[in-house]
Amino acid sequence: MPSPAEEIADLTVRLKRWGAAYFEIDTPLVPDADYDAAMMRLRALEADHPELQAPDSPTQRVGGAPLSAFETIAHRMPMLSLDNAFSESDLIEFHRRVVERLSVSEITYCCEPKLDGVAVSIVYESGLLTQAATRGDGVSGEDITANVKTIRNVPLMLSGDDIPSYLEVRGEITIPRSGFEQMNARARLLGQKVFVNPRNAAAGSLRQLDSSVTAKRPLEFTAYSVGVFDGSLPASHDATLRVLAEWGIPISEHMQTVVGIEACEVYYEQMAVQRDALPFDIDGIVYKVNSLEQQERLGFISRAPRWAVARKFPAQEVSTRLLGVDFQVGRTGAITPVARLEPVFVAGVTVSNATLHNIDEIQRLSVAIGDVVVVRRAGDVIPQIVSVVRDDTETNVGVREPIIFPSQCPACGAALAREAGEAAIRCVGGVGCQAQLKGVVRHFASRKAMNIDGLGDKLIDQLVDEGLLTSVADLFRLTKDGVGALDRMGEKSSENLLLSVAAARETTLSKFIYALGIREVGEATARSLSEHFMTLDAVLAASVEALEDVDDVGPVVAQHIRTFAVDERNRVILDELLAAGINWPDVTLDAGDGPLAGTIWVVTGKLVAMSREEAESRLRALGAKTASSVSKKTTSVVAGPGAGSKRKRAESLAIPIIDESALLVVLERHE
Ligand code: IVH
Repeated sequence: MPSPAEEIADLTVRLKRWGAAYFEIDTPLVPDADYDAAMMRLRALEADHPELQAPDSPTQRVGGAPLSAFETIAHRMPMLSLDNAFSESDLIEFHRRVVERLSVSEITYCCEPKLDGVAVSIVYESGLLTQAATRGDGVSGEDITANVKTIRNVPLMLSGDDIPSYLEVRGEITIPRSGFEQMNARARLLGQKVFVNPRNAAAGSLRQLDSSVTAKRPLEFTAYSVGVFDGSLPASHDATLRVLAEWGIPISEHMQTVVGIEACEVYYEQMAVQRDALPFDIDGIVYKVNSLEQQERLGFISRAPRWAVARKFPAQEVSTRLLGVDFQVGRTGAITPVARLEPVFVAGVTVSNATLHNIDEIQRLSVAIGDVVVVRRAGDVIPQIVSVVRDDTETNVGVREPIIFPSQCPACGAALAREAGEAAIRCVGGVGCQAQLKGVVRHFASRKAMNIDGLGDKLIDQLVDEGLLTSVADLFRLTKDGVGALDRMGEKSSENLLLSVAAARETTLSKFIYALGIREVGEATARSLSEHFMTLDAVLAASVEALEDVDDVGPVVAQHIRTFAVDERNRVILDELLAAGINWPDVTLDAGDGPLAGTIWVVTGKLVAMSREEAESRLRALGAKTASSVSKKTTSVVAGPGAGSKRKRAESLAIPIIDESALLVVLERHE
C-alpha cells in the first residue's frame, strides 16, 4: 500500500500529463472515466490530508493553457466548470445543500443535456458577432473568431427586439455523430488523421489556423448560458435561453424546467433511454437552479457554481484489455479484424467485441494483443477501439503479441487481394467461400431484401455447413426432408421455412436488386435503378455511362454493377432464381396520381417522430419519389438535426429545405 503522500504524488504526475495532452494537444491519453476517477481520488486524499495539497495541484486548475498560435483573449467573467454527481445520492446531496442555503423548500431546476464538445464564448456587440473564444484555462482562452464565424448555425447578426448592446453567449460546439462517422470514414480512406471521438474532432476543427478547413467540418453550436451583458434579460435561466433563441441563437431542444429533485431524476432516466438515439454525444445532464436571483445568492465555490451540477451518464469510452483478434469474412469477402476484449461496461451495456475496421487501422493504432485499449460505444454505431493506453506504464507491461493479418482467407483458404485505393483486403473465393456465401444468404433473406421469415443466422450456418445451400438459388430447392434432417429442425419449423421461402417469390424489382447484394447498392440505389430502367434486363445490360445517369449512381457504383452483371456465375444464379418463380409486378414509373406525384424528395438528418424510412415511405405513398442524394431534379429536402452535406448541396442548388415539423404538416394535410 502506498502512503497518502506517495499516492498523491503519483496521481498528480498522471493527471498533469493527461491534462496537458488533453487540453493542449487534443490527444486524450486515457478515457475520461479514468481521468475523472483519478481526479476524484486525488480530491478525496487532499480533503483528508490538507497539508499534502500542493498549490499547483491538478485539483486547483480548470483546464490547460492556450496554444501560442492564436491570440489570447481574457474572459471578462471567468468560464467555470461544473461539479459532478456520479449517483442519485450525490444529486440528492446537491439538492439538500441548495435547499439549506436558500432556506426554501421547493426549487425549480432547468434540466439540459450535457453536450460533449468544446466550451466557447461568443460576443455580440449591437447584435453583431465580434469575438469568439475557447474556454482555455477559464481565465483566458484563444481567439477563434474566424473559425466560429464559419459555423452555419451561429448567427453572425442577431435579429429581434431588445438585444443587449453587449452580449456574451456561452455554449458548446459539437459535431453530430453522423458527421463524425463520415469525417472519419473519409479520413480512413485517404489515410488522413482519424479523430478519436466527436469532441476531439470538434476541438481539432476549432484549432485550425486556416478557417477554410474549419468551414468544411460539420460543427454545431448550442448555447447554454449568458456571460457578461449590457442591457436587460429575463430573471430566470430558461427564459433567458428562450430569448436567445428568439434572437436566432441555437439552444437545446431538450431543455426542460421542472420542480423538485425527483423530477430531475425522471428527466435523467428519460434522457438515458434516448441517449443512443440522439444525433450527438451527451455525457450527462446538467441541472441548474432556474431563478437567477437564487443563483446569485448561492454563488460559487472555487471553480464551480453552487447552483448547478452535472449528473454523469455511464462512460462511452472505457479502457479494457485486448485478448485477441478474430478475422471475419463479410459477404463481399472483406476481411474485418474483430477485437476480442476483456468484457467491459460501456455506456450501459457489456461489450466483449469491437471492430478494428481493417489492416490500416491496426497499423495506425499500433495495437498489439495484450494492450490496454480504449473502447468507444456511442449510439447505434458498433463498438470501436479508438486508441491504445500508452501512458500507463504498469498497465502495458505484459507480453505484447503482434496482430498477424492472415495471408489466406481464414474461412476458405483462398488467396486475399487488395484493390488499388481500397482499405479492405478481400477473399477472392466469391460464393465458393462459405463465409461469403453465408453473408450473401443472410443479406438476400433479410427483411428489406427478400424478407424470408424464420431464416436466421444459425439456420443459414447449418444449411451452408451441411451443403444444402451452395447459392441463394438453392433456397428454392430446399425440401422438407432435407431441412428436417438438420439438428433441432422439427417438422413444423421445416414446413414454416419452406412456406416463407415460397412466399418470398412475390417481390418487387427494387427489393430483388437490393437482395442481390451488389457492392454499394443499398435500398435507395436499388429503387433508383428499378425506376430508371424498369426491367432487370435493362439494368444488367446498361453501360457504365447509362448507369451513371441514374440518380444516386456514381462511377464507383456503376462499375460495381457492371462487374456483377458481366460475371457468368451471377448470370447462372439469376437464371435459376427466375426459373424458381421469383416475380414482381411491372414497374410503373408514374407513381400514380397521388397529391405529391411529380415531386422528388430527399430526407436527411435525424427525425424524431418517425424514422427516415417511414418518412420516405409515407411520401411515396402520396405519389412522391424519394432519392438518397440531392440533385438538380430534387424538389424538396427534409433536413433533421445532423443533416450535413446533403443540406449544403440543397442550399447551393437553392432547393427548398424544410424541417420535420413542416414535413408532418405536409403529410397530415395529404394523407
Ligand atoms: S453550464 C458555470 N450547461 O460542461 C457553469 N455546461 O463540466 C457553466 N457543458 O465547461 C457550464 N453542456 O463546456 C453547462 N448544458 C450545459 C452544458 C455544459 C456541456 C460543458 C461546458 C463546461 C463543462 C463543465
